Amino acid sequence: MSQSETPADLRPWFLTLGDLDGPLDWRQFFGNSNPVEIDVGSGRGMFLVNSALARPDTNFLGIEIDYREGRRAARRLMKRELPNARVLGGDVHQAFDRFVPPHSVQAMYVYFPDPWWKRKHRRRRVFTDDFADRCARALHPGGLLHSWSDVGEYFEIIRSLMDHHADFEPLPPPPEREPEHDMDYQTSYERKGRQTGGTVHRGLWRRR
Ligand SMILES: C[S@@+](CC[C@H](N)C(=O)[O-])C[C@H]1O[C@@H](n2cnc3c(N)ncnc32)[C@H](O)[C@@H]1O
Repeated sequence: MSQSETPADLRPWFLTLGDLDGPLDWRQFFGNSNPVEIDVGSGRGMFLVNSALARPDTNFLGIEIDYREGRRAARRLMKRELPNARVLGGDVHQAFDRFVPPHSVQAMYVYFPDPWWKRKHRRRRVFTDDFADRCARALHPGGLLHSWSDVGEYFEIIRSLMDHHADFEPLPPPPEREPEHDMDYQTSYERKGRQTGGTVHRGLWRRR
């Protein structure tokens, strides 16, 4: 936050879980009844900005536990006065449990979740069995869950639990595309990973 900026200056682009009263009414939240998609761990907001610009008839919500990153993303949305994207500061598990109505979300993106390399920190990983259950609850039938990672071992865990989840079926993930320019990537982490020669593992599942 700059010295003169207050949290209120970023409203409505940045809100925290503490600003919400109860389950979200998406129509009220976005001011329209367009479909809603959620970017889990939205970081600096590259996906939110690009998607909101490319698909004005879809609403995007980023959920980001790091307020500093969340505000940075919100500033980018505010600068472009994007009406169809918002960032919610807070923990995604709490957000799903308390504020996301069941079967109300069209798609979910979990791009490059933190790997938490050290064994003793593994329990901090976002993508667990419980998280997959929360996604199944939030998505409506036919809704899509996309998850990409540059960490092979973590991606195999995600793939295994999603492929075996009773509420999801695996779909072929999108093929890797050659970027047309320096910013033509889905997220900052995809850009960083690919520009340093890393492999990006891609998964896509459909809610039954
Ligand atoms: C490795 S970064 C990836 C950021 C972005 N998705 C990308 O691909 O560029 C992971 C992000 O997830 C956020 N995050 C980690 N745990 C979270 C949680 N429990 N709830 C919400 N966000 C979380 C982190 O703060 C971080 O911004």
